[in-house]
Amino acid sequence: MVWEKHKQRMLGFALLLVLLCALGGAEGREEVQRHGHISVVIVGGTGDLAKKYLWQGFFQLYVKEINSGNSFSFHGGGLSPIEKGKPVLFEILKAVSCPKAVSEERCAVLKEQFLRLSQYRQLKTLEDYQALSKQIEKQLQEEGMTEAGRLFYLSVPAFAYSGVSEKINSSCRPSGGAWLRVVLEKPFGHDLSSAQALASQLGNSLKEEEMYRIDHYLGKQAVSKILPFRLENKKNLNPIWNKHHIERVEIVLKETLDVKGRIHFYDQYGVVRDVLQNHLTEVMMLLTMKLPKNISNAEEVNQNKLQILSSLLPLGKNQAVVGQYQSYKTEVQQELNQTTDQSVSLTPTFAAVVAHIDNALYEGVPILFVSGKRLNERVGYARVLFKNNIFCLQDHNSVHCKPKQIVFYFGHGSLQYPAILVSKNLFKPALMGKEWMEVTEHKNVSVLGLPITDYYVQTPREQRDAYAELISHIYAAHKSSFVSTEILLGSWYMWTPLLTSLKDTFPRNYPGGADNAGLLDICLDGNDITFNNMEVIINHDQMGSSSASGFKAMQGKFRSADMVSAWTEELVETLAVDLQAAAEAAVHEEGVFHLAVSGGSTPLALFYQLVLHHSTFPWRSTHVWMVDERCVPLTELDSNFHNLHEHLLQHVKIPYYNIHPMPVQLNQRLCVEEDGGALVYERELSKMVVNSSFHFVLLGVGYDGHTASLFPGEKVNEHGESLVALTESPNKPHQRMSLTFNAINQAHRVALLVMGKGKHELVTQVSRIKDVSDKWPVTRVKPTHGTLVWYIDYDALIG
Ligand code: BG6
Repeated sequence: MVWEKHKQRMLGFALLLVLLCALGGAEGREEVQRHGHISVVIVGGTGDLAKKYLWQGFFQLYVKEINSGNSFSFHGGGLSPIEKGKPVLFEILKAVSCPKAVSEERCAVLKEQFLRLSQYRQLKTLEDYQALSKQIEKQLQEEGMTEAGRLFYLSVPAFAYSGVSEKINSSCRPSGGAWLRVVLEKPFGHDLSSAQALASQLGNSLKEEEMYRIDHYLGKQAVSKILPFRLENKKNLNPIWNKHHIERVEIVLKETLDVKGRIHFYDQYGVVRDVLQNHLTEVMMLLTMKLPKNISNAEEVNQNKLQILSSLLPLGKNQAVVGQYQSYKTEVQQELNQTTDQSVSLTPTFAAVVAHIDNALYEGVPILFVSGKRLNERVGYARVLFKNNIFCLQDHNSVHCKPKQIVFYFGHGSLQYPAILVSKNLFKPALMGKEWMEVTEHKNVSVLGLPITDYYVQTPREQRDAYAELISHIYAAHKSSFVSTEILLGSWYMWTPLLTSLKDTFPRNYPGGADNAGLLDICLDGNDITFNNMEVIINHDQMGSSSASGFKAMQGKFRSADMVSAWTEELVETLAVDLQAAAEAAVHEEGVFHLAVSGGSTPLALFYQLVLHHSTFPWRSTHVWMVDERCVPLTELDSNFHNLHEHLLQHVKIPYYNIHPMPVQLNQRLCVEEDGGALVYERELSKMVVNSSFHFVLLGVGYDGHTASLFPGEKVNEHGESLVALTESPNKPHQRMSLTFNAINQAHRVALLVMGKGKHELVTQVSRIKDVSDKWPVTRVKPTHGTLVWYIDYDALIG
């Protein structure tokens, strides 16, 4: 079965390559270098990236190449007119700094020259690009210079790429054999088809060899040394770089920051598209590709990367787990101006994925990709962990008992510098050229479970920024440091099916920072991956009267009633399954199922689940009633019915006469006692529901302990025998209509759904109340003949 799938996939991959050739996507020949004048144009030259990295990178290039025989001019392009753009650019240029080795005096001279060679220009219309080209030609002519090439760095949003490339193609191509290089930044699409569309648009204006797609990880010093390291240490590595010796490969980027300020972008992308599809995949290819005979040969590197991409087994849903940090939802609401708490963003901010390569060398070796925001530390690394078959009886500290590993350390973390580390029980590696040095004096730190003194460590003599590094590679036309169209599409081919299958997965909620503790630990289980922490031990003190005893994710007792507890997504799924089972049983026995649902945001996740995964739910025989309603027209956004309709009813095939909104608006007015709306509803339900006994009532609990629209201080005794009442809420809109406890407690089954860390305090308080308390209305939920089940997620249960 897997093999069949794999064959189909290989066929798909082959077809993709055929398509690519049709697009002109095959790696092209590199241009012949010649000396002369080089015009650098940064489109988006006053933007953030340009300000932070690009001008600095080009200044460094200028300083390095000043005596190369080439001359330079630099153009910062922007949409603003010159009066506005020029001073902004000037401020950016003033801030560039010289490499350490350059003296202060010399630095001042170089900066002055760089400033003179740089200018701002408006680049908006085709005419602006034509004028730029004319100016370059005029300058070349006036100064009698030969043109070597033109380098356009597109530091603009991806949607602008094809427009700008068309303009460059039609009006800014150099003539007379000079080169054109156009640099692009991710995102390069959102999935395979959008990446294909973008590639084909760009392919209309630019040749493959003219495109330089940046993945700044390829400019990181420890990443760019992966191939040289493998080559230099071939003799030691060859015998162990295979499935018999490698336990697993881990490629990890942990970040502490959140994504505030980037939500517009991030919420559409998430961590898999933002980091795994590009940065981590590039690192994976460098680690696992067949070692090219010539690592500087871009064509050979490209082919070997493609080969490994095409040997990956398809990624299924079970090969990934995802998470979302807790405050993400609020950030989404704030930045996307979502004023209600009704939106459910499933965008993962954490992901761990395990992939497998289907070839003789790596068969069965897990390749783990991990990345996330709001984790406990900022660090990036790739670790090749080797098997260790030594059993140490006594001295576990002796060197042969320790983990055997090679770590490409990208930076930050405990070391704070990029490095390559080889555990001393493997071999002493060759030094990565003159620009690297061995580190022998160490701080007292550990790296991935080993004290630093247990490694051979080497680091670059000078730390260089990835952008500056890549800018010098663009200049030198080192195409192997860039992402070809083939690799880009091959990588999307790998990730897109997984992204599709994860689309509706609820990410595990994590608090962020050190509080994540073991919550995001991963367990590799055959080809699959799970969160390690599926069991939660409950602190009995917190649980008050709960009789739960160190139970697993599942059943327990809460306030003497049944309780189901799990992580949010599993909990909601369990509730959906239970609800469907209750519906099927009722329909089987009575031909009808009466369900009453509450308002508020708690049930939305359940509705979502029902809509997506419960296509066999007996909607045709289901009657949906409201537990409570706000006294607003049903068409308004804060109407409970409106929400129910938006999130559930309109998506399922339920006959409209089975839907029973509460009559909060009668005689063109809202909830007026004399209009008798509550009585109308009560009569309707008494008429239709046998013994006024709902089959299933779904309730939530508010932070103040209210349930349905029965708030603390409500004079419940005044409701007498009635089933429906007008009530008062401390929150707006104050007037409500609600089922009474009398109606709720007559149900066959009541589910109380409580989710989120914010409800932890409430759960703790309520768990301590022995009987009923008017302060906590939810304690009055006690079905007289039926059953009550609490569905409480771990966040609410254990905080
Ligand atoms: C970028 C991602 O490509 O890489 C960011 O868009 C991420 O979300 C960044 O933070 C990580 O790069 P670095 O160099 O800080 O590890």
